[in-house]
Amino acid sequence: MKIEQLSNERDMLLKAKREHYAVGAFNFSSIEIMRAIVDAAEAAHSPVILALSEGGLKYAEPRYIRHVVGVVSEMSNAPVALHLDHGKNIDIVREVIDLGFNSVMIDGSSLPYDENIAVTKEVVKYAHKRGVVVEGELGVLAGVEDDVHSDVHKYTDPEQAVDFVKKTGVDSLAIAIGTSHGAYKFSGEAKLRIDILKNINSLLPEVPLVLHGASSVPQNFVKTINEYGGKIEGAKGVPEEEIRESCRNGISKVNCDTDLRLAFTATIRKYLVENPTIFDPRKYLQACKDAMRDFVIDKMTNVLLSANKA
Ligand code: G3H
Ligand code: 13P
Ligand code: ZN
Repeated sequence: MKIEQLSNERDMLLKAKREHYAVGAFNFSSIEIMRAIVDAAEAAHSPVILALSEGGLKYAEPRYIRHVVGVVSEMSNAPVALHLDHGKNIDIVREVIDLGFNSVMIDGSSLPYDENIAVTKEVVKYAHKRGVVVEGELGVLAGVEDDVHSDVHKYTDPEQAVDFVKKTGVDSLAIAIGTSHGAYKFSGEAKLRIDILKNINSLLPEVPLVLHGASSVPQNFVKTINEYGGKIEGAKGVPEEEIRESCRNGISKVNCDTDLRLAFTATIRKYLVENPTIFDPRKYLQACKDAMRDFVIDKMTNVLLSANKA
C-alpha cells in the first residue's frame, strides 16, 4: 500500500550527494515531534526524512503512523520520506514496507559480514520489487543501539564497503567513522575519521553515505536540563563543523534523534517549573514543539545546508 504523498528518498539523496549537502533524518515517536520536523522542513524549504526506529514504531503504533504521516505530508510543501531506522527484524522490515514506508534500513552491522550481506540482500529484493529504497550498514558505532552495545568503534573498511554495495545492491550505506548514538559521544577529543570517509567516498562516488549518531548535543539544552532538575552531566556531541566537513565529503543523510529529545526535555522541564499553575498539555507541548522546530530549522540551514533545496 503506497502513501502517495511521500517523496522518493533515492532522488533526494542522489541530489544531495551531487550538490554536497545532506538530508536530515530526524527520529520521531509522537505527533508533536513529527509536526516539529515537518514544519521546520517547510519553513526552511528543505527535504526531510521522518525516521522511526523499531522501538519508536512500537510506541507510536504502525496503524496510526501511515495515516498521520500521509495527511501531514499532503498538507506540507516540503518533500517528506518515511524511513524505518535500524531495522533488525526482517518481519518488521517487511511489515513497514507493506504499510507504505518508502525507505527502510536493514541493520546487519552487528552480524558476521556474510550474514550481513545475506540479510541485506533479502531485504533489497523485497523492497526494490515494491519501489522502496534500502540503506545498509557496515562497521560498528560505539555506544548503545537498541539492545546492542559496543564499547569500541569498528570503522568501516573502504574496500569491504565497495564489496558490500556490489553484493547487496543497497541504495545508500551507513558507515562508522567515529560517531555513536546517544548523548555521550566522546570522552576525549571530538573528532571524526574524515580520512576514512574520503577514502570510502572516492571508491563509491555515486552512493549516498549515511552518518548515524550525528547529534551535536547543544550545550544550552544540556545546561537547561541540568539546571531544572535533570542529571546529564558530561553529555557531548559531534561538533557542527565535523558534520559540515562530512557533508562536503560524501555524507548525504545525517541521522539525528538525541538533539530532539534534549530540546523536548529541556523545554518541558523549564516550562513546568516556571509555570506551576499550567496543567493544559497543549501549552507545554506547544513550547516543546517550537523548540524542536527551531532547532531543526537551524540544523538544516547552518549544518546540513539542505535549506532551499526542496
Ligand atoms: O539509532 C537509534 C535511534 O536514536 C533510535 O533510538 O531505538 O531508542 O528509538 P530508539
Ligand atoms: P543520535 O543519537 O546522535 O541522535 O543518532 C541518532 C541515529 O543515528 C538514529 O539512527
Ligand atoms: Zn542510528
